[in-house]
Amino acid sequence: MDWIVKDEKFNKENIVNNGNKFITGNGYMGFRGTLEEYTKNELVACNLAGLYDRQGDKWREPVNAPNGIFTALTVDGKELGVLREEPLEHVQVLDIMEGVHRRNTVWKTEKGKVTIKSQRFVSLSDVHLICVKLSVFTEQSCEVVIKTGIDGDVWDINGPHLENYSFEKGEKYIKLAATTQELKVTVVSAEICKRSFAAQETVEESEKGIFRYIRFYADPMTEYTIYKYVSVYTGNDEACNIVAECLRSAQKAAEEGYEKNYEAHVAKWKDRWDISDVLIEGNDDDQLALRYSIYQLQIIAPVHSDKLSIPARGLSGQTYKGAIFWDTEMFMLPFFLHTAPEAAMNLVNYRIRTLHGAREKAKYYGYKGAFYAWESQEDGQDGCSDFNVTDVFTGRPVKTYFKDKQVHISAAVAYAIWETYKFTVDDRLLLKGGAEVIIECARFYYSYAYFKEDKDRYEILDVIGPDEYHERVNNNAYTSKMVYHTLEVALETLDLLLKKYPREYSQLVSGLNLSREEVLKLIKFKSKLYIPQPEEKTLVIEQFSGYNALEDCTLKDVKSRLQDPKEYWGGGHGVATTTKIIKQADVVLMLYLFRNEYSDEVKKANWQYYEPRTEHGSSLSPCIYALLSCDIGNEEWAYPFFVKTANMDLTGESKQFAGSIYIGGTHPAANGGAWMSVILGFAGLQINDGEISIKPELPEGWNRIAFKVILRGEKYFIDIRKNSTTSMTTGDIIKIS
Ligand code: BGC
Repeated sequence: MDWIVKDEKFNKENIVNNGNKFITGNGYMGFRGTLEEYTKNELVACNLAGLYDRQGDKWREPVNAPNGIFTALTVDGKELGVLREEPLEHVQVLDIMEGVHRRNTVWKTEKGKVTIKSQRFVSLSDVHLICVKLSVFTEQSCEVVIKTGIDGDVWDINGPHLENYSFEKGEKYIKLAATTQELKVTVVSAEICKRSFAAQETVEESEKGIFRYIRFYADPMTEYTIYKYVSVYTGNDEACNIVAECLRSAQKAAEEGYEKNYEAHVAKWKDRWDISDVLIEGNDDDQLALRYSIYQLQIIAPVHSDKLSIPARGLSGQTYKGAIFWDTEMFMLPFFLHTAPEAAMNLVNYRIRTLHGAREKAKYYGYKGAFYAWESQEDGQDGCSDFNVTDVFTGRPVKTYFKDKQVHISAAVAYAIWETYKFTVDDRLLLKGGAEVIIECARFYYSYAYFKEDKDRYEILDVIGPDEYHERVNNNAYTSKMVYHTLEVALETLDLLLKKYPREYSQLVSGLNLSREEVLKLIKFKSKLYIPQPEEKTLVIEQFSGYNALEDCTLKDVKSRLQDPKEYWGGGHGVATTTKIIKQADVVLMLYLFRNEYSDEVKKANWQYYEPRTEHGSSLSPCIYALLSCDIGNEEWAYPFFVKTANMDLTGESKQFAGSIYIGGTHPAANGGAWMSVILGFAGLQINDGEISIKPELPEGWNRIAFKVILRGEKYFIDIRKNSTTSMTTGDIIKIS
């Protein structure tokens, strides 16, 4: 049961959340966990990675492909669907071991029970393919009509994105093509439907869809099964003729049959789990929650393309504009680095590829170097709007400074490249653009910083740190420390290239027009950069200048001031703005990232100070509190935060609105955080200069954790056990290839 997510009752209230919870995907597309009869009203989405569209002056967001699995059932003239008719029984299942979605629904009708049973998967072996097997079973003989086809009337938040619909009915297939509004990119979906029973079949087109009507008289107690092979291609794919490729993919799948496709898909999942599974013995709920988190990361991993990264809401829809945030670099990358280094490289490569966009953004604001987009879309352009929140009271857009002032994004990019480099020691990463990005990020900060003559130091002013509730603050400890780190790695990168690759070094510095004088400026900047330090008595680091003077009230106080549950807490007049209540881990995140530079006393003092003042209003927050607790050897503190992060997408308990803007969906950063909490936290896995070590301490009730990691082409199996009589935890690190 540790691989099964189940919902055993139909409840209208759960439609949106189940769409997230039961999602399937393969990095190319994500198909929400909706039922076959659902339409855009129930937020059906086949969300495409990396294809964006802008309609008029609305927000740019990713495109949802036409829904090729749509199927509705009519029995004796009556449409049966969970929304039309309360089912007698209903089970929705996600098998995370095999990446398969199943449903079984039974209705009671005048002619006895009617059952619809389906299973589907978004193929890992052909990323363009979705396969569906759907059966109908009636107790008595009745007239059945199965309407199935491609529904192009898709769910959009800021759409519609598709236009110029065209349809085609081939001898065996049906096809729908449309183009995006802004860039006129073609999106095509082909469907082949197979069955082994006799029926009368017609095909009809609607304004935005093409559907088959399969009519037959069902014999009692007989199962009638259709198999659908749906393929999706877009103009972003490398294929020269996407329409032909789309048909070919559906045709090949149909010829091979459902079972063969299923086996190929499951075999891929087996390979993925073989390296990424983490065994937890002693608590089945924790085991499932962690595996589910890993499943979520696997279904969005851009394994097939080095042009893609992972959006903050994965492939669960269009919220957060399908954009890539620092979530990927700081919260998801570690999982991929340790279990799928090629996917990790793809993620990093996305930032290298979008350097141009970051340079343009820096230029726009009058800075040098690379200022990465806060909400990055396909070419690195910033999808973040100037008015990113809507006031719940007036309905008016609220000016926010996320995109202008969350400058720590560039440091996250440099950090990720450097971490990947240290992990892989693959010089090509630096030579093929990584070094250039790091240096451009350092340059950006130099041009952003202020030199304070009176204090003889550089300061990073007017920023938003990770805690978004306090905008435009000075000397945010996290940001300043990350800037320092960027400078450190930029200088180290230059040194390394000069020593190892003098020719490439010369090419780089001349290409960047980086003079010795400028390098000396960076060195001075680093040596004189102000980073807030622990206060002598309390050891607490002030989150930003002036934070200490804010109102020190409780989270409960702040919540009690809300006049509307959807109210935005930050910005100009948010309830948290004037208080010490913060949205998410900020100083604590800094202490975790640079844990070797701070004493346990400092870490503990800050954890204890900031935790009660943290709303954990971002899914990025709990895991960091878990990780720092583990680092200071306090698993008891860590455990509830692990539980919170690992269950976020299972329970659906997360913020759904920022002002009146819907921000729901899946939370890959929390999923990555769950993995980090166990592997880097409880197991205490560390890799230093290619050497693996562990410092394990398991939460109460856990007897064992076991997992694999890949390091520089070698695989290791790590097995950690707690002796039940002595409570001693020991572990083995075994090289397996
Ligand atoms: C958080 C950001 C995060 C974004 C996307 C916001 O609520 O404050 O730190 O990057 O969500 O997950």
